[in-house]
Amino acid sequence: MTTLFKNIKELIQVRTEPISFVSGKDMNTLPTIKNAFLVVENGLISDFGSMENCPLNNFSEVIDVTGKMILPTWCDSHTHIVYAGNRENEFVDRINGLSYEEIAKRGGGILNSAKKLQETSEEELYQQSKERLEDVIKLGTGAIEIKSGYGLTFDAELKMLRVIKRLKESYPIKIKATFLGAHALPIEYKENKEGYLQMLIDDIMPQIHQEQLADYVDIFCETGYFSVEDTEQILKAGKKYGLIPKIHVNQFTAIGGVQAGVNNKALSVDHLEIMRDEDINILKNSTTMPVALPACSYFLSIPYTPARKIIDAGLPLALATDYNPGSSPSGNMNFVISTACIKMKMTPEEAINAATINGAYAMGLEKEVGTITLGKNANLLITKHISSYGFIPYSFGSNLIDTVYIKGKAFNYF
Ligand code: NIG
Ligand code: FE
Repeated sequence: MTTLFKNIKELIQVRTEPISFVSGKDMNTLPTIKNAFLVVENGLISDFGSMENCPLNNFSEVIDVTGKMILPTWCDSHTHIVYAGNRENEFVDRINGLSYEEIAKRGGGILNSAKKLQETSEEELYQQSKERLEDVIKLGTGAIEIKSGYGLTFDAELKMLRVIKRLKESYPIKIKATFLGAHALPIEYKENKEGYLQMLIDDIMPQIHQEQLADYVDIFCETGYFSVEDTEQILKAGKKYGLIPKIHVNQFTAIGGVQAGVNNKALSVDHLEIMRDEDINILKNSTTMPVALPACSYFLSIPYTPARKIIDAGLPLALATDYNPGSSPSGNMNFVISTACIKMKMTPEEAINAATINGAYAMGLEKEVGTITLGKNANLLITKHISSYGFIPYSFGSNLIDTVYIKGKAFNYF
């Protein structure tokens, strides 16, 4: 099966040499080919270039995309899309003046979602989650990370991870799974945090390993949730089971989580709304990707990750949605990219690099997705007729996607 896309107005994020991520000033460069062609063979990118050099072979399918652009699909490296129900009531509580922290203190927040999830069957959880997954694919996401962390018991955490595994097996997009048992302390363990962490380490982790249910380990390292010491403990235990760290740090307070992540060779440190100079310095010369989640800042009205400070310090930055019921009930990467430009002063080039190749790196998928490079998955986003790629962040809130191709096939699970 070979497909030719011809007359591409602009082919975006073209990298002839494979790269792992882009950082600092390089983030402001987005290589493209105007008036281009692209060939897909058996789901992979097999050729591309200028229309002048377009091959004349007998293709199984020829798609003329005159006036439209092609980008690699978005790489959303931080989500919690497997959850039960929603938290609309808390949304209204916040409108009426309660803060996210106040809601959490009275048993709402993550514990509220955990209660709902514990009462939901695995089948029902799968049905709810697959709808969200299909929605975000239609919005241009072609690789995604999904976390557990709304179970908070042996059975419910494993239920979440099994749902993620089933999504992995059922959909053509790349999915990575992260174990976030240390997301919040369940009420039963209110006076026994050590006991809860021990349960995660002694009971759940071996089972995850046995069923091969996760790639990464996460913890909510935050005042009132889990400390830096807890983080060290969980990350070290995860390592024994081959789980690489990707952690929630510096969302509300800076308590040393970035350092803990870097010390433990975290693949990414995510949130980073509150960053001290020392946190930025620690990330230099590390292999850890900083990840910003602007939809969460938008929804909770908390500070935005200081993207300019991070990029101007020579660091890379990735963008992700944080799609979850409490702090970001949206998985729209297009909105995330717009918000990064509007609120975090990232250029369209920086935002698109952050949402493609840097997001791919933050999921360990930089060899498979995130750029237009020979041999990578043909996960492609075809735009509607637009004047330039800068129009994508500029026209926030509108849907500029014509079609999404996953492994060279148009995605339309309706
Ligand atoms: O990434 N910060 C921790 N976890 C999620 C939100 C959890 C929730 O409110 O359900 C986040 O923002
Ligand atoms: Fe999150």
